[in-house]
Amino acid sequence: MGDAAGYAAATWMRGIDLVQCPTTLLAQVDSSLGGKVGVDLPEGKNLVGAFHLPRMVVADVECLLTQAWGDFRQGLAEAVKVALGEDPPLLGWMEEHREGILRRDLQTLEELVARCVALKLGVTEEDFRERTGARARLNLGHTVGHGLEAASGYRGWSHGDGVAVGLVVVARLACRRGLLDEGMLTRLVALLEGFGLPTLPDRPWEDLLPHVERDKKFVAGAPRLVLPRGGQRCVLREDVPLEELGEVYEEVRAWGRVGSSC
Ligand SMILES: NC(=O)c1ccc[n+]([C@@H]2O[C@H](COP(=O)([O-])OP(=O)(O)OC[C@H]3O[C@@H](n4cnc5c(N)ncnc54)[C@H](O)[C@@H]3O)[C@@H](O)[C@H]2O)c1
Repeated sequence: MGDAAGYAAATWMRGIDLVQCPTTLLAQVDSSLGGKVGVDLPEGKNLVGAFHLPRMVVADVECLLTQAWGDFRQGLAEAVKVALGEDPPLLGWMEEHREGILRRDLQTLEELVARCVALKLGVTEEDFRERTGARARLNLGHTVGHGLEAASGYRGWSHGDGVAVGLVVVARLACRRGLLDEGMLTRLVALLEGFGLPTLPDRPWEDLLPHVERDKKFVAGAPRLVLPRGGQRCVLREDVPLEELGEVYEEVRAWGRVGSSC
């Protein structure tokens, strides 16, 4: 809702003032901040959009009490993403406070939202127009996530669910490349599952491939891929062949067929 309204504000009379009042967890921790607005096309996510910063963001965590569970967990996926990518101690905090988060204890939610807001604003202030690569780090897990969403025609897969699976795939890839240890991957899968988020893809890589290839993050023969690293910020890489991403995706998908995650 915020992305579409924000896009209208960015284009109406070449731009009018915008105040974002996010009422979903996803919007409070992520989409209301940083000024990216837009709409999806059948051909891909966010293909029409603009950068349009809100004058103000008003986020009240009490709104989250009425959110449907399926929508609430979409925000948890984005919170896990920013923690894994930018602030590993926040990941530990989320593990410790899992129960309070799921119970929607207001103080716990307030801290979660505030910490995610600070992280997102830190990154977007550094690189508002996504030019230096800093902001691209926020796309952690999104190549596969967007692929799943698009392959399902934006009906089967919600944004956060797709990102959750995307996080597992890039974390597995990072393990293979020696950037992340297996223990972190196991923790990530456990945290996502604890939040009721999916961790396994449901369809073959070929279904995602046309969408991934069209993705604007795909540059000069290789996807611009963000990989998590143990104990430090994630890193933007342009040297991971698409075939390797597909191979790891299929490896993760096969975990479901043998009945265990990792
Ligand atoms: N712009 C960005 O930087 C950015 C970042 C991440 C995600 N996104 C986009 O955000 C979108 C998802 O946003 P969203 O999760 O806020 O979805 P949304 O705006 O579609 O809302 C989801 C549903 O929740 C309902 N709802 C909202 N607040 C409620 C409340 N307090 N109580 C009960 N129901 C409530 C809405 O009516 C709607 O049915 C995706 O399209 C994703 O691509 C954008």
